[in-house]
Amino acid sequence: MAVKSVLRMGEPCLLLKATPVEKFDTPELHGLIQDLQDTMQYMNGAGIAAPQIGTSLRVIIFGQKESDGSKNPRYPDADAVPYTVLVNPVLTLIGEDVEDGWEGCLSVPGMRGVVPRHLRLHYAGFDQYGNKIDRLVSGFHARVVQHENDHLDGILYPMRIRDLKYFGYSDVFFPNQDIQDD
Ligand code: NI
Repeated sequence: MAVKSVLRMGEPCLLLKATPVEKFDTPELHGLIQDLQDTMQYMNGAGIAAPQIGTSLRVIIFGQKESDGSKNPRYPDADAVPYTVLVNPVLTLIGEDVEDGWEGCLSVPGMRGVVPRHLRLHYAGFDQYGNKIDRLVSGFHARVVQHENDHLDGILYPMRIRDLKYFGYSDVFFPNQDIQDD
């Protein structure tokens, strides 16, 4: 399949509420996931959502395959998150604990911001074959899922920043880190 160009903030497609997938294990769904995977890998993303490549369906992928190494160069300090295809996700936030953390987004290239996210959550959904996925996660894994799931509801992380003093250019906030123009 192909590396797709990633839509940037301002594109109307990024603000839509995406549509649930109704049929699993179809050539169209497999093609979409291959495109998402190729694009995420090429861009070194921690995750990517279908609307970011112009397909308004409730499909996200995130994490890293073991063969790619366990660390994302864009998030070198983050815990490893297993590679996951998640279709029609349903998130249930657990408890009141919220943690601030730096985020970037392939649709907001070159920027970083501090975003509050729930520390723990349960998520459910399906893989591309229709197999059920059901997980209890915390920390960076929980953050990535919340960020990607937001894309399915037309929410980009800058909309969740509480203090815009902590939103700016990656190479200004982190001058000594080799952060790519994500
Ligand atoms: Ni994003």
